[in-house]
Amino acid sequence: MIRKRVAVLVSGRGSNLAALIQAAKTPGYPAEIALVVSNVPGAGGLEIARLAGVANRIVPHQGLPRETFDARIDAALREANIDIVCEAGFMRIHGEAFARAWAGRILNIHPSLLPAFPGTRVHEQVLAAGVKETGCTLHFLTPELDSGPIVLQAKVPVLAGDTVETLSARVLAEEHRLYPEALRLVAEGKVRLENGRAVFA
Ligand code: GRF
Repeated sequence: MIRKRVAVLVSGRGSNLAALIQAAKTPGYPAEIALVVSNVPGAGGLEIARLAGVANRIVPHQGLPRETFDARIDAALREANIDIVCEAGFMRIHGEAFARAWAGRILNIHPSLLPAFPGTRVHEQVLAAGVKETGCTLHFLTPELDSGPIVLQAKVPVLAGDTVETLSARVLAEEHRLYPEALRLVAEGKVRLENGRAVFA
């Protein structure tokens, strides 16, 4: 089996990265985590990569026009012969050229049931709206923020007395299950981006 070479882009803690690294150790898993890239030098995700022996790079964004930053990320990905990119808590928005160049080969996770509650401070928004259900969404990344074609979603209840901490922990547990599952589908070619839709084989 030729495993797909995956890069994970992180800006913070890296718990989804850890779930992906763990999943990739499963015999027969169709992808290997070959590279971790972060725009934040102190990101927890970089330490997770180091401890796991995964190649890692810092690409700072400060003071760079978006296109220049994108070009540096793109160069790092190409240098490492990356097939698929997983964004996991990566807090930069890409320009259109980057998103188009990687279309169908780049995934993102968002901690709500999109199209509900895009953007940031998601769990605050969910609690303020008083909805009874939320979850997470794994989607193909497109130039429009948090609106790419959906690959998988998982639901969790919003419980009385929930805080951002309790709710985000419940959603995160589902994220850790969903991301490896979605990456498997994409790596095996069982889901593809076609004419702006996620098409299942
Ligand atoms: C996750 O909740 C993810 O959905 C959001 O940012 C958070 C990243 O967490 N985009 P981690 O860095 O993977 O722990």
